[in-house]
Amino acid sequence: TSYWVIVPAAGAGKRMGADKPKQYLPLSGKPLIAHTLENILHWPGLKGIVVAIAADDTEFATLRCAQDARIQTVTGGAERADSVLAALDYLSEREAPETSILVHDAARPLVRVADIRKLLAAAPMALLAQPASDTVKLSQTRGGKTEVRETLPRDQIWLAQTPQKAPLGKLRETLLQGLAENSTAITDEASALERAGFHPELVAACRSNFKITHPADLLLAEALLQHRAVESSL
Ligand code: CTP
Ligand code: MG
Repeated sequence: TSYWVIVPAAGAGKRMGADKPKQYLPLSGKPLIAHTLENILHWPGLKGIVVAIAADDTEFATLRCAQDARIQTVTGGAERADSVLAALDYLSEREAPETSILVHDAARPLVRVADIRKLLAAAPMALLAQPASDTVKLSQTRGGKTEVRETLPRDQIWLAQTPQKAPLGKLRETLLQGLAENSTAITDEASALERAGFHPELVAACRSNFKITHPADLLLAEALLQHRAVESSL
């Protein structure tokens, strides 16, 4: 079965604190987003990629992979969900509602193709995620102090990653509905699907599928890329 990939890449990268959005920062000799897109172009069964970029983006067009006929762009929005919706609007005019969609953050360049195969073999609604390794505390604020309210059962805690997979029609409907009802609660695709009563399957991902968010994440990604280069040359 074939599928489209949506890549939200319209964020500002505030937590990175660099002079440009993190997706355009250099990583092992090319922009972060080029690693992500070149990785996706190797996924089995890929039909095409829709990248949501900022309205004032001038860098995307300068990437070598921007010339690839399988990659399209749309203008993203104020929140990640708005950017994903812009790409879903583009696809819903061209593809059937049953078409499988994988949404993957521009800032996750190191996802393993083996994990993509696991995700493709999972339920029609599924996402890559990391089982929690730290103990997770639910907090509350009282008298100006943040304190523990309770400890969550660690063996049931997963940290959501991407790609997140769902059929085009259902994903678009539930995102529109979720944004209309409570936009701040829709921080990933699964959260919109859950609100509509679906239970996406959790697929355990390799630890290298972290999201590049803070400056130290770039150093870690660089080290992992170098390690892989050596590994594959052996
Ligand atoms: N994203 C997007 N449109 C937005 C906000 C985010 O397409 N309005 C994208 C980002 O470019 C990124 C992905 O969603 O690839 C995950 O978001 P995040 O890691 O939060 O990136 P930023 O929002 O850019 O970073 P920050 O939250 O630190 O500002
Ligand atoms: Mg953000």
